[in-house]
Amino acid sequence: MSTSTASFDTLDDLDPGQRVLVRLDLNSPIEDGEPQDNRRFERHAETVRELAEAGHRVVLLAHQGRPGRDDFVSLAGHADILAAHLDREVAFVEDTYGERAVDAIEALGAGEVLLLENTRMCEDELPEEAPEAKAETEFVRALAPHFDAYVNDAYSAAHRSHASLVGFPLVLPAYAGRVMETEYGANTAIASKEFDGRVTMVVGGTKATDVIDVMDNLGDTVDDFLLGGIAGELFLRADGRPLGFDLDPEQDLYDSQWEANHDLVEGMLTERRDQITLATDLAYDDGGERAEVDVADIDEKDVSYLDVGTRTAEAYADVVRDSEAVFVKGALGVFEEEAFSVGTVTVLEAIAETDCFSVVGGGDTSRAIGMCGLNEADFDHVSIAGGAYIRALTGQPLAGVEALKRS
Ligand code: 3PG
Ligand code: MG
Repeated sequence: MSTSTASFDTLDDLDPGQRVLVRLDLNSPIEDGEPQDNRRFERHAETVRELAEAGHRVVLLAHQGRPGRDDFVSLAGHADILAAHLDREVAFVEDTYGERAVDAIEALGAGEVLLLENTRMCEDELPEEAPEAKAETEFVRALAPHFDAYVNDAYSAAHRSHASLVGFPLVLPAYAGRVMETEYGANTAIASKEFDGRVTMVVGGTKATDVIDVMDNLGDTVDDFLLGGIAGELFLRADGRPLGFDLDPEQDLYDSQWEANHDLVEGMLTERRDQITLATDLAYDDGGERAEVDVADIDEKDVSYLDVGTRTAEAYADVVRDSEAVFVKGALGVFEEEAFSVGTVTVLEAIAETDCFSVVGGGDTSRAIGMCGLNEADFDHVSIAGGAYIRALTGQPLAGVEALKRS
């Protein structure tokens, strides 16, 4: 097995003593106006540390939320969290490219780190436009002359054609940061199909439309799809079971996703039946206790199914143990509740114990690894990307990665 090598420069190619502008993805959950620490800080801190220790002047760009939303806040709190991970000072300036930002950049010494304000507070950042147009914005034109190099480490935001992601690589020598490099290699591994043995994909979660697209795109690459979550029920519905619809008219998890995808789901079930494994038992909440039922015995859906059953979980774990590569997109159940974490945990444990190449993606599923007491080191790659991971799996190019490649 080998991961695809990207045709972009990395930090190994950077000359010493540079003034570097580094794009990170620190977009985080916000509670009471404050960013919450998460895996993204820890990962990006590695890139920042490497640059600072090498004696570069390090200026960071990142975004948070979108204008008009509650999570659209200043990055002042992000600077503190990053500083704690780095164990070194991270200066912050409440400006993106104006005089105050430029003064702070010019005042920076070798090995010092400065975070600029939320890129999305700058009007030029957001509209999705071609890199050429973004390179012409005042934001890019004002900042670029103060730097020798641009580093993009924000793989998880690289599906956006925003100024800080695609504009700078056109006007500055551009490099991939360590997070960018690692995420790119792992997430595109599936497309390069250089595995000798069985390639398995565990498909679950609530965004059925996303994972059904992924399945449709990877049908020739993946040998076995193991289904759970909302998509699992939609496939059972296509298989003629009384499952995969909303019980409560207020809920909208199944019916609209069924409407949007049933042709595709029915087609896949006809054409690729032998590649698709569906649950044979399911779990539900019976007065606060986990209860299980055989799919064959369900005459009518009158409860919400919150996990695959134990027999299904064991069968999926057996497939994992027999696989050369396993990709996970979405949890098999509501793992946040211990009683319904059996499917997700059983499969993740099997992956951790097996010597297969493994990638776990999507913010929520990766969270299960920590919550269930598993060790991240037992997986080849745990992605911090959501939308970008889906795009990589469906073979779509990422604007930010493309901009790096051609610079
Ligand atoms: C993310 O958090 O998924 C990325 O940072 C992209 O953010 P966005 O979905 O707000 O563009
Ligand atoms: Mg998102």
